[in-house]
Amino acid sequence: MNPGAAVGIDALYAYIPGNYVDVRELAEKRANGRDTSKILSLVGQKEMAIPFGFEDPVTMAANAVAGMIRHFKADVSKIERIVMATESAFDFSKAGSSFVHEMAKLKRGTEVYEVKHACASGTYALLDAVNAVRAGEIETAVVVMSDICRYKKGSSAEYTQGAGAVALLVAKNPKILAISPGTGTCSFNVADFYRPAGSETPVVDGRLSMESYIKAVCGSFSDYVEKAQIMPHHLLAAMSHIIFHTPFPKMAENAFFALCKETGCRRREKEDFERKVKPSLSIPSSVGNVYTASLYLALASALENATRDDIAGLFSYGSGCTSKFFAGRVAPQAGDRIRSLGLLKQLSARRRLSIAEYERVFYEGGEIDNEYRGFRVRSIRNGYREYGLV
Ligand code: CAA
Repeated sequence: MNPGAAVGIDALYAYIPGNYVDVRELAEKRANGRDTSKILSLVGQKEMAIPFGFEDPVTMAANAVAGMIRHFKADVSKIERIVMATESAFDFSKAGSSFVHEMAKLKRGTEVYEVKHACASGTYALLDAVNAVRAGEIETAVVVMSDICRYKKGSSAEYTQGAGAVALLVAKNPKILAISPGTGTCSFNVADFYRPAGSETPVVDGRLSMESYIKAVCGSFSDYVEKAQIMPHHLLAAMSHIIFHTPFPKMAENAFFALCKETGCRRREKEDFERKVKPSLSIPSSVGNVYTASLYLALASALENATRDDIAGLFSYGSGCTSKFFAGRVAPQAGDRIRSLGLLKQLSARRRLSIAEYERVFYEGGEIDNEYRGFRVRSIRNGYREYGLV
């Protein structure tokens, strides 16, 4: 591990929809005489963010990118690449990032593309952008991850939905996280989770998806330590933050304990979980799964509490599947930068939807009464979306 590398995440901005559903209330509604304690402890989720019917992955991505540029006064003339990562795209050809490029007023000389590998594509885009900046090919890049996580109504996955976007600015001398060279990888073909063309919701094998996730996390970690020639317990001890892709909080918790078992580092596992992992679960437990953006929302949650230049380890998982482990050094300004976003205040300002309102807006595209400011879908003609700002 080389913690001194000075390219990485200079700015991070999260867009979280203004409505939410209480997961306990939803589980009770669907219980049908069953005790809800099993499913609630299986997922550990409190609330899920619900977008308006006129929001889509492009509007959320544009809100995140424009918000980031405005909030951190980013120099638009230096942005030479914008990549959008999503697994809820509505077009098989046109990249969502083309819309975002226009909505965020980026220059013509910007590389624009979209990437896919379930929840891991944003990580691949981030690592590519870091390499391109490190090699001097581009000055800065924006990677935006945006997803609406929607499952079949009444399924056990319904309690793990969510929506949102995270934009990252990749630059030299980053003020949030300097990403160290070297990664660990674990990939194998598995039918744990996929969304066939034309289907509104994915096909999910819940148990298989959890098993594959844990196998991949342990595999990418052991690949990393082998390549870096470092003892697993030394690396685990060196990390102050261990941050996971968080489809629901209990998944990250299970993965951490599985990793401790796999590496024989169980002596202080409970204490380590409380200190190194739990802070990253706080915001995700109120937002839900945001697929590609999930790891980076967990990073924001962890860094709300960062006070010094800690080492962070990050696990990215994409169903199907692939997994990456990588590490970085937290910049001294990171905590202040993240706290300046006021994410906790944003969460408490959201409107709680009744289950009937949630079903109407999320499954039937109906309207709900709540204030909205930002980009929205104005119309869809011949499948082509027109956007506007309200
Ligand atoms: N009230 C009471 N009990 C309920 C209930 C309710 N409302 N809803 C479900 N239950 C019960 C079920 O009856 C079942 O009980 P028994 O075991 O006694 O039969 C129990 O809760 C569990 O339900 P399932 O067996 O249906 O659930 P599962 O084991 O298939 O797991 C899950 C499902 C993973 C927890 C689910 O939330 C899910 O499928 N999520 C989506 C997939 C996912 O996120 N996987 C994580 C790894 S993949 C990944 O990370 C990529 C990604 O982002 C998707």
